[in-house]
Amino acid sequence: MSSSAKAGIGVVVAILVLSLVGAAFWYKKKRRRATGYHAGFVMPSPASSPQVLGKTNYSAGSPDYKETMSEFSMGNCRFFTYEELHQITNGFAAKNLLGEGGFGSVYKGCLADGREVAVKKLKGGGGQGEREFQAEVEIISRVHHRHLVSLVGYCISEDQRLLVYDFVPNDTLHHHLHGRGMPVLEWSARVKIAAGSARGIAYLHEDCHPRIIHRDIKSSNILLDNNFEAQVADFGLARLAMDAVTHVTTRVMGTFGYLAPEYASSGKLTERSDVFSFGVVLLELITGRKPVDASKPLGDESLVEWARPLLTEAIETGNVGELIDSRLDKNFNEAEMFRMIEAAAACIRHSASRRPRMSQVVRVLDSLADVDLSNGIQPGKSEMFNVANTAEIRLFQRMAFGSQDFTTDFTQSSWDSRSRDIDASGSRPL
Ligand SMILES: Nc1ncnc2c1ncn2[C@@H]1O[C@H](COP(=O)(O)OP(=O)(O)O)[C@@H](O)[C@H]1O
Ligand SMILES: [Mg+2]
Repeated sequence: MSSSAKAGIGVVVAILVLSLVGAAFWYKKKRRRATGYHAGFVMPSPASSPQVLGKTNYSAGSPDYKETMSEFSMGNCRFFTYEELHQITNGFAAKNLLGEGGFGSVYKGCLADGREVAVKKLKGGGGQGEREFQAEVEIISRVHHRHLVSLVGYCISEDQRLLVYDFVPNDTLHHHLHGRGMPVLEWSARVKIAAGSARGIAYLHEDCHPRIIHRDIKSSNILLDNNFEAQVADFGLARLAMDAVTHVTTRVMGTFGYLAPEYASSGKLTERSDVFSFGVVLLELITGRKPVDASKPLGDESLVEWARPLLTEAIETGNVGELIDSRLDKNFNEAEMFRMIEAAAACIRHSASRRPRMSQVVRVLDSLADVDLSNGIQPGKSEMFNVANTAEIRLFQRMAFGSQDFTTDFTQSSWDSRSRDIDASGSRPL
């Protein structure tokens, strides 16, 4: 066969293969559309046809119900009937109540396949349209991270709105820090919780599209598993509670004691208001105090205001004595404590633009575990900030802040250079 004939056959074969691939692609796309298996915002109306959203096939009650299932993709999120959630929570029984918060009550339940869930019955759920609620659930259901509580599904029934989350077994950080009769939360667990929850929030702020501002970061929204790994709960709830028409919040949400000043005074909301609230959580971890404690002397009720001068003193002089949780006794690593103090001070800055981004906080907190600045000193085995340790920390600060003046102003650029320095010293990037 001549070479031109060979080339001709080659071209014909290539065209045939290409058209076959094209046809297969077109057919697959069409089939997806027909079954509703679509990644966009085309959603069914659960009110008219309860369907399982996603491929996860949990048992869903009656056989009739099962017949109406279709492969509607919504992350891994499914639709529940009100009856089903009523049943698995023993009729939203008081004994199943896990807690009550600003957005609603949370009940424990167990799905037919044995999966334990927390069912959140939203207050005044009828305020938001069904479609808007679904759109928000859609966004939240796509968020998967080991430090964020997973949404299992949801329910819309008349004016009821319910969300179903994975159950997290070891209660909240608030309970472990402030619960009556609780044993002291070990320092190593505190470090792990700080780093884990920071990662979860950083993911919401910087890796989600659209980005998610939590708006209610607080120790009771940080759930813990049995290894004290943190999972941040309730993200996106504020979105779900939004005004459906304008998509503008009509009231400042969040929790007293955690609110960033600019958000509390003008409703101006950015990721940095979450950073402020996270700084308050760090202060809780450091001091063991509640964000607002009416039993404290007048003027000292607010943790942030009480801590501000002590943070400055700690950073200037290395004297952390009054600041730290006395229940820790000497069982903590000074270098880690100092770094957490620095992170807290930066997060609660008045000026939102001068607070670090969450990913920067993550890098600093991560380095607690990765970079040993303790000079081999065991927790509790040294005097507070002995000479060698102090010298090393000072060196680190000069490196990080690029100037001697690190006491009152943690500028953005100083945080940036600090992150680079930490990266250069071998810590994990986010
Ligand atoms: N996914 C979950 N797993 C286990 N417990 C949960 C879960 N979600 C919420 N809870 C519990 O229910 C309580 C109330 O939740 P919430 O309504 O969010 O109130 P809060 O204002 O305390 O965050 C939480 O503090 C926690 O104890
Ligand atoms: Mg909560």
